[in-house]
Amino acid sequence: MQLTNPFRRATTVVLVAVLVLAAAAARADGALCVKSDKAALLAIKSGLGNHPELSGWNSSVPCCSWPGISCDTTTGRVTELTVFALNISAPVPAAIANLSALQTVNLAYNRLYGRIPEFLSPRGALPALNFLRLDGNRLSGAIPPTATVYDLSLVGNNLTGPLPATFADAEFGDLDLADNQLTGDASMLFGAKKKMNALRLSRNRFAFDLGRVQLPEGLDILAIDHNMIYGSIPAAAAARKWLAFDVSYNSLCGPIPQGRYTHRFGPKHFVPNKCLCGRPLAPCT
Ligand SMILES: *[C@@H]1O[C@H](CO)[C@@H](O)[C@H](O)[C@H]1NC(C)=O
Ligand SMILES: *[C@@H]1O[C@H](CO)[C@@H](O)[C@H](O)[C@H]1NC(C)=O
Ligand SMILES: *[C@@H]1O[C@H](CO)[C@@H](O)[C@H](O)[C@H]1NC(C)=O
Ligand SMILES: *[C@@H]1O[C@H](CO)[C@@H](O)[C@H](O)[C@H]1NC(C)=O
Repeated sequence: MQLTNPFRRATTVVLVAVLVLAAAAARADGALCVKSDKAALLAIKSGLGNHPELSGWNSSVPCCSWPGISCDTTTGRVTELTVFALNISAPVPAAIANLSALQTVNLAYNRLYGRIPEFLSPRGALPALNFLRLDGNRLSGAIPPTATVYDLSLVGNNLTGPLPATFADAEFGDLDLADNQLTGDASMLFGAKKKMNALRLSRNRFAFDLGRVQLPEGLDILAIDHNMIYGSIPAAAAARKWLAFDVSYNSLCGPIPQGRYTHRFGPKHFVPNKCLCGRPLAPCT
């Protein structure tokens, strides 16, 4: 485009300035919210009983600026949904499935009941989902096979049954399943090549041979206390830089691998068990 005409040039300059200002304003107040996402958020609000704390989710404010909501500033799609600790009693709202650009969902510490829906998943309706917190609710039933979210916390619900087979091939970074009534084998979560940093299985009814697992390279938090786990502690545990380590209240046996980081943890991280021995417990005989 050749801008020889001074009038056209001036018009263009003004137009560009207006567009730049409009874009800045849109970013600042989050005005860019896709219509269908707004409709879904209003359906979620209704599904959560129009809780008073959600009164800020109203049309006088652009939906990207609603409490607990973040958007992608270029697409206007909702990327984060946080409804945290409002003690809301409801099933997980189905309309969440329409927010297909979600990356982060945090519904922790409410009183959500019913099953974990299959759509709440990168394999379901939410391909970009990599962070899901549903801890501190009253969700029940089995964990669905789709729940393979990279950072996943389901702590403190009423989940039952074995882990879904899909968890064997899933990539988890931080997995927290403590305080449920989960059963069976959880050894498929381990593996030398896995990226897992933190694994918490405390206070369930898992039963598997810990001596046969390979610890993921980057694992530095392992809390598997209060289960029915048997076998021995893998020798590789001696070389890991543990930030947290608890195998108490299981049925483990054999020598405790000795390393600088396992030495941080006192006896209560190891007892009771069937017959663990060595520092910090009594020497093996
Ligand atoms: C969710 O998406 C479905 C299918 O596109 C549509 O029929 C429904 O109206 C949407 N619901 C909301 C609340 O946006
Ligand atoms: C809408 O949200 C704004 C901002 O939180 C709040 O000040 C206002 O009272 C709300 N309006 C209604 C009708 O709830
Ligand atoms: C949560 O709600 C229940 C009723 O649904 C009520 O009994 C309980 O006291 C509430 N807890 C908090 C912390 O507000
Ligand atoms: C957990 O589930 C069991 C059996 O399904 C039920 O008896 C119990 O009341 C539930 N507990 C809570 C806190 O929902």
